[in-house]
Amino acid sequence: MSKVAVVYWSGTGNTEAMASAVADGAKGAGAEVTLFNPSEFGADKVSGFDSIAFGCPAMGAEVLEESEFDPMFTAVEGALSGKKIGLFGSYGWGDGQWMRDWEDRCKGDGAVLASDSVIANNAPDDSALDECRSLGMALA
Ligand SMILES: Cc1cc2nc3c(=O)[nH]c(=O)nc-3n(C[C@H](O)[C@H](O)[C@H](O)COP(=O)(O)O)c2cc1C
Repeated sequence: MSKVAVVYWSGTGNTEAMASAVADGAKGAGAEVTLFNPSEFGADKVSGFDSIAFGCPAMGAEVLEESEFDPMFTAVEGALSGKKIGLFGSYGWGDGQWMRDWEDRCKGDGAVLASDSVIANNAPDDSALDECRSLGMALA
């Protein structure tokens, strides 16, 4: 059974709903799934998982959330070379620039993006939740 971590930050619940759907998709495909908030995850945890889904909304000016998520991700990304990962998150008024930048950052880290990233405008609709479940399945 593959082990999948879902590591996310969510201020108002939109990315949290996506995390839950990612976890459901991975569990449905037979994986053992553990959900983490940023304070619970670190570089020492990376090797314990076959794949990792990271979720964070667009914050600041098209950046990752800066007080909890980005510091955690900065600490973890040196351990992501060759790791199967997936990205997801919610946004508001932008056009998804934060996610394009985040994907580039992960590719620079040598991480392997297992499927297309999933972005949802504000609360995820049924189609976005389906995409999140597919992301979870791709990571399982
Ligand atoms: C402080 C702050 C900064 C934000 N910055 C952006 C932004 O740069 N681009 C964007 O598209 N949405 C931005 N948003 C909107 C959030 O990404 C959006 O509300 C999202 O659904 C929040 O997800 P969450 O419910 O998981 O916290 C911002 C929201 C807040 C509160």
